[in-house]
Amino acid sequence: MTEQGFSVAEIDTARPHPARMYDFYLGGKDNYEVDREAAQRVIDLAPQIVPMARANRAFMHRAVRFLAEKGIRQIIDIGTGIPTAPNTHQVAHEVSPEVRVAYVDNDPIVATHAGAHLLDAGNTGFFLGDLRDPESILGHPTIGELIDFDQPIGLMLVAILHFIRDDEDPAGLVAAYCDALPAGSYLVLSHGTNDFHQTDAKSSQARDVYRDRGATATLNLRSYEQVLGFFRDLELVEPGLVQPPLWHHEGPEPTTEELARIGFYSGVGIKR
Ligand SMILES: C[S@@+](CC[C@H](N)C(=O)[O-])C[C@H]1O[C@@H](n2cnc3c(N)ncnc32)[C@H](O)[C@@H]1O
Repeated sequence: MTEQGFSVAEIDTARPHPARMYDFYLGGKDNYEVDREAAQRVIDLAPQIVPMARANRAFMHRAVRFLAEKGIRQIIDIGTGIPTAPNTHQVAHEVSPEVRVAYVDNDPIVATHAGAHLLDAGNTGFFLGDLRDPESILGHPTIGELIDFDQPIGLMLVAILHFIRDDEDPAGLVAAYCDALPAGSYLVLSHGTNDFHQTDAKSSQARDVYRDRGATATLNLRSYEQVLGFFRDLELVEPGLVQPPLWHHEGPEPTTEELARIGFYSGVGIKR
């Protein structure tokens, strides 16, 4: 075990993992043959996965900058993913080097890269934790060191909730985290959806790749109403819950054709 409390021996390279498949979609190198094979199968069936992953990551960057510009100086990023620059703290530090970021993921491979890429700047910490266990995450010593629950917090649940099944009560989990946040805190959330494409045989097969390859998580795509429900009594900031390229978009207006490929919702809510 390292001082962060994780062990590299826990990495399971026999089964594809969504974090490493996502890294492959983003063009990263931190994935194994088993991940590349599963990810390529998904790409063959649903090529939109690549622009979708990149649009989601770009949303995350804009949302972190937004939070930092609004004065948020502490962020909890659950479902960090394999580090791909710029990471949350790097984006936030462009606005203020004072921003503290607690990174959490349940994949040991994320942990192996955390030291070099997430803990390089001070003001950051990483630990292995599971979103489905809010008590352990919120009570973790790293959170205790970095996060002051009397000051507004940015909570990032970006592209993670679709790995939580309905019977695991994703809405209840989000509520458990949000209840712990003080007023003035923000929730940054994105989530996969089928609302923008018909579910054809190929997209169902793509979804099944996660399950059939024994991936450690299944994909649970949700509708606008279901994703909106995660914000509960938070107030959505403009422009509300939209496809990632439409959230504070930069550059040219996304085309209808581009948007048709992005089966994702993204939004930022503030706790009043
Ligand atoms: C698609 S990646 C998203 C990475 C990053 N948030 C982004 O949007 O660019 C999803 C991440 O969530 C992590 N994850 C999935 N289920 C989790 C859980 N129950 N608890 C903690 N992390 C989880 C995966 O290991 C993976 O790193």
